[in-house]
Amino acid sequence: MKQQIVFTHKFEQSLSDSIAKCNPDKIFVLADDTTIGMCYNRIKHFECLKKAQPITIPSADVNKNLSSLSCVWKVLQTAKATRHSMLINLGGGMVTDLGGFAAATFKRGINFVNVPTTLLAMVDASVGGKTGINFGGLKNEIGAFAFPKTVIIDTQWLETLDRENLLSGYAEMLKHGLIAEKGALATLLAFDTDTFDLRQLAEMLEESVEIKEKIVEQDPHEKHIRKALNFGHTFGHSFEAWAMMREPILHGYAVAYGFVCELYLSVVKQGFPTDIMRKTVNFIKANYGEFAISCNDYDALIDLMKHDKKNVNSTINFTLLQDLGRVSINQTATEDEIKEALDFLREG
Ligand code: GLY
Repeated sequence: MKQQIVFTHKFEQSLSDSIAKCNPDKIFVLADDTTIGMCYNRIKHFECLKKAQPITIPSADVNKNLSSLSCVWKVLQTAKATRHSMLINLGGGMVTDLGGFAAATFKRGINFVNVPTTLLAMVDASVGGKTGINFGGLKNEIGAFAFPKTVIIDTQWLETLDRENLLSGYAEMLKHGLIAEKGALATLLAFDTDTFDLRQLAEMLEESVEIKEKIVEQDPHEKHIRKALNFGHTFGHSFEAWAMMREPILHGYAVAYGFVCELYLSVVKQGFPTDIMRKTVNFIKANYGEFAISCNDYDALIDLMKHDKKNVNSTINFTLLQDLGRVSINQTATEDEIKEALDFLREG
């Protein structure tokens, strides 16, 4: 694993340094139709980007697909990119996931740098080498582990985000608080999400990324301990896919609702402390609101969970918690237990 994570407030210098490290013959900047205006326009005059060619794809997770991927490959090919060219992915998780996969596959792999511009991408998507696209109605169905040369995290980009997108990223920070040793979660639950002080957030973010980095270093290809990072995501991914067919919700909202269900299973099946579960669930309900499902949706949600790529032998796979920082991977639950967890989400 070769990625370097740089926290910076001197973005131009950090970007120029990471480009110099790769010494590319050509530079491409991938953005979506939101970040091309809001982010690329703010940096395109940089000396280090003077000869860079922008590539724009449509924004939103529904466009993290083969057609956008093919469009990136096409631009690279038409512009005669070589194995020594470099791609800079400027945007949220959709751009860093798709761009990472485009770079990993073009001519069997070119260097890429991630510049995450959302909190979700800073704390999770851009870090850790998971790249890919959605396919056949399933999220991240096609992809590869491929590590960026550098991830440049500058919290100035967060000034462009609304509260919903900040909360979406914050959910993954909560996850890191739950799977880390005691201490991290209490700070996260005490944070004032009405004001979202970006300076305080930046400090917590650095710690949060470190928690993920340490896990990824131990198990880059998710054979064992990296599964800790899947906490909340078995339910969460089914909620996200279910909502996508109705009224899409942000990834972090889906996983926050997933935490509620998986904390319930953790209490019932692993003896996770009830008081910590209660405090976390209260925080989620206060900030992320209710998820509008009824018991008539349970079978469809369970069906979606059966497609999860974390499953082994078609058995739905969960990561649960015995306590803060004490993770149980490869857990199962009966359909009745899954339905009880969904009841808890609706009524708990
Ligand atoms: N988003 C979970 C992971 O990177 O493993």
